[in-house]
Amino acid sequence: MPISYDDTSRTFHLRNEKISYVMRVLENGTLGHLYFGGSLAESGSYGHLSGGEYLGLSNRLGEPIALEYPTPGIGDFRVPGLIVEQPDGSTALDPRFVSHRVFGGKSAIPGLPSTYVQGYEEAETLEILLVDTPANLEIRVFFAIYADRPVVTRSVRFRNVGSDAVQIRCAMSATLDLPDSDWEMLHLSGAWARERHVRTRRLEAGSQAIGSLRGASGHQHNPFLILKRAQTTEESGEAYGLSLVYSGNFLAEVEVDEFETTRLRIGINPEGFSWQLDPSAEFCTPEAVLTYSESGIGTLSDAYHSLYRDRLARGVWRDAPRPIVINNWEATYFDFDDARLVEIATAARDLGVEMFVLDDGWFGQRDSDATSLGDWTANKAKLPSGVEGVARRIEALGLRFGIWIEPEMVSQRSQLFADHADWAVGVPSRPHTEGRNQLVLDMSRREVVDHLFGVLSDLLGRAPISYVKWDMNRNITEPFSPSLPARRQGEFFHRYILGTYDLYERLTRAFPQVLFESCAGGGGRFDPGLLPFAPQAWTSDDTDAVERLKIQWGTSLCYPVSSMAAHVSAVPNHQTGRTTPLATRAAVAFFGVLGYELDPGALNDEERKAVADQISYYKARRELFQRGRLVRLRSPFEGDGNETAWMTVSDDSRRAVVGHYRVLNRPHRGPARLRLRGLDAKATYRVSVWPTGDDRVSKANTGIRGGDELMRIGLLIASDDPLDSRLAGDFTARLFDLVAEEPASQSSR
Ligand code: DGJ
Repeated sequence: MPISYDDTSRTFHLRNEKISYVMRVLENGTLGHLYFGGSLAESGSYGHLSGGEYLGLSNRLGEPIALEYPTPGIGDFRVPGLIVEQPDGSTALDPRFVSHRVFGGKSAIPGLPSTYVQGYEEAETLEILLVDTPANLEIRVFFAIYADRPVVTRSVRFRNVGSDAVQIRCAMSATLDLPDSDWEMLHLSGAWARERHVRTRRLEAGSQAIGSLRGASGHQHNPFLILKRAQTTEESGEAYGLSLVYSGNFLAEVEVDEFETTRLRIGINPEGFSWQLDPSAEFCTPEAVLTYSESGIGTLSDAYHSLYRDRLARGVWRDAPRPIVINNWEATYFDFDDARLVEIATAARDLGVEMFVLDDGWFGQRDSDATSLGDWTANKAKLPSGVEGVARRIEALGLRFGIWIEPEMVSQRSQLFADHADWAVGVPSRPHTEGRNQLVLDMSRREVVDHLFGVLSDLLGRAPISYVKWDMNRNITEPFSPSLPARRQGEFFHRYILGTYDLYERLTRAFPQVLFESCAGGGGRFDPGLLPFAPQAWTSDDTDAVERLKIQWGTSLCYPVSSMAAHVSAVPNHQTGRTTPLATRAAVAFFGVLGYELDPGALNDEERKAVADQISYYKARRELFQRGRLVRLRSPFEGDGNETAWMTVSDDSRRAVVGHYRVLNRPHRGPARLRLRGLDAKATYRVSVWPTGDDRVSKANTGIRGGDELMRIGLLIASDDPLDSRLAGDFTARLFDLVAEEPASQSSR
C-alpha cells in the first residue's frame, strides 16, 4: 500500500520505492509537512520529527514551521498557500484536520485536466479534509502517489458550508516546505521565438518567482520549476520538480526565510484573481505534479516525460505514431490558392510526407492578419471548392489533410464581430489595446463556446480533416466579462481557461480521430494543461536549427519529445536569416515530431533527394525518436554553448540514436569524445554515422562497439585532422545510429 496512516502519531506516509511524502496532524490539529524526498522505510515512524528539533515545529510566531497548506494571519509570515476573505472582510484562517480517506486510483478534477490512471492499482489517493470553522470552509486536499513513479500530485477542492459567500483570493495547488535553502532555482524562460531557455539562480533570502498575467501560460515563463543542489547534474544529485497542469495565469514562487528554510508554492496566479464561493458552492484548483530525484535532472525529466506522455495525454493519438507533416505557412504565408496547395502537397508526397497542413489564410477574406478571424468558412477566392474540395484533392494524393484554426480570436473586420461585437473581451468604457489586429473572444461565456463548437464541428464534420493546429496569437488585455457581476470580475481569467478547456474537451470527444496540435504564436502556451487534448504542440515559431537546440533542450526538461513539433524550414531562416545545412536542420528536428515547413518545389534535385532520405531515416526510427527515452548529454546552456548532444534510447536499450551538434567550427582542434549513457554495458552495438562521410570522425565511429566502451570512452566527435576541420564548416550535426547486435544476456565480445 503506497499510503499508510499511523493513528497514534497521526502521521501519513505516501511512499513507493522512489519517494516518500510524510505529513503529520500536529497537536493543535494543523496539518504539518514533515518530509518529501527519497524513499523512507515503510515501517518507520516519523511522528517524532515534529518534536521541534527537525523542522522547528515549536511555535507559530515567525519560526520555521513546515506546514502542508499555510494560511495567513496566524503567525506564519511567509507566503501563504491560501487566502480567503470572509464575510467580515478578515483573512486570518486556521484550518484544522477533521478526517481522511484513502482510495485506489485517482479522481478527476471537474472542468480541469489532470493526470490519470488506467487501473486502480496504478496509484493511491489520500483525501484530507481540513475545516476552518469560523470561515465555514471545507478544504479537501488530494494527494495521489503513483505506485512506480517518483511523483505526487496535489490539488485542492474548497466548499463553502456557511450561509454567506466568501472570496478566495489565493488558492495554490501545492506548497512545499524544505528545511534548508541551499538550492538553485532552475526555470524555463524566454520570449517569442526563444521559448524555454534554461535559467538558473541561487536561492537568496526573500522571494523569487516566475509567473504569467497574460491569460495564457506564455512564452516568457513556463509553469514549471526545479530546485537543485549546485552540484546536481543530469546524472547525479538531488532535484525537486514542480509542474502545474494549467494553461492560464500561474505563479511559481520560492521564498527563503530568516532561518534559511525554503517554501515553494505553485498555482493560479493570485494577482488579479479572486473567486466568490457562494454557500454550498465548490472551487477546484488545477493539479500540481511534484517529483523528486536523487540521481540528477535526467531522472526527473524521465518521470515527467513518461507521466505526461502516457497518463496526461489521452485518446487515440496518445500512443499512435505521429505523422510527418508539411505545413504551408513559411512556403506561402497568406498568398496561395488551391492549385498552389495541391502543388506543394504533391511535391511533399513524393518525398514521403504523410500529411498536408493548411495554415492561416484559408477562411473569410483573410489575405493578411488584419481580417476574418471568427469567420470559419472557406475563402472562396482561394478555395473555390471549399475546404472540403481541397481536402479531398489532397487525400486523393495519398496524404491526410490538416487545418489551422484560431478559435479564441476575432478580427474587428469579420462577420462574427459585426454580429457579436460584445463577445470580444474588453472593458466597455475603454478602447481595446491593439495586438496583431485581433481581439480575444470571451471564452468565459457559455454562448461563445457553444457557438465555436457549432461552427468548428461543422467544419470538421464536413471535410476529411485529420489534424487541427489550434493557434492563439495574442494575450488578453482589458480583462472583463459583461456576463460577470462586478464582484466576480476576478474570476475572468480562470473562467476563460475553463471555457477553452471545455471547447477542447467537446471537440476532442466529438472528433476522437483528429490529432490536435496546440500553438500560441509558436510555444506561447506549451504547458501540461493542453496535453490531454493536444498531445503535441508547435514548439516555437523559430525554426532555425541553432536556436532550436536551446529551445528543444529547455523544453525537454519537462515535456516529452512526442509533444514537441519540430519542422525543417527553408534557408536563409525566416526568423534569424541564418543559413544552416539541410542535414543539420533535419538532425535537430528528428528529436521532435518531424515536419517540414518549406516549399518542396523550390528544392533542387540534390536537396529533394536529401529530404527523401531524411524522411525514410526518420520513418525507420520513428518510434525511437518519438517515444524513446531522451538522454541529454551536452547542454547548449553550459560552457560556451558551442556544442549540444543528446540521444534517444529504446526501452530495452537495444537501439539508440545520438545527435551531436556544433555551432561554430574551430580550427586546430584536438580529438574529443562524447560519452553516452543509458546503453546496455554488456551489449555490442553496430554504429553507423549519418550523414555518411569519409572524414576521420565518420570512419572512427563506424563498426561494432561495446556498450561499455560507448559509455566509458565514448564516440569520437572531433579529430585532429586539419583537413576534416577545414571542410566541416559551421552549424554541423552528426547522428550516430546504434543497433545492438545480440541479446544482452548472450553477449560474448
Ligand atoms: C503563429 C504560428 O506559430 C505560426 O506557425 C503560424 O500558424 C501563424 N501563427 C499563422 O498566423
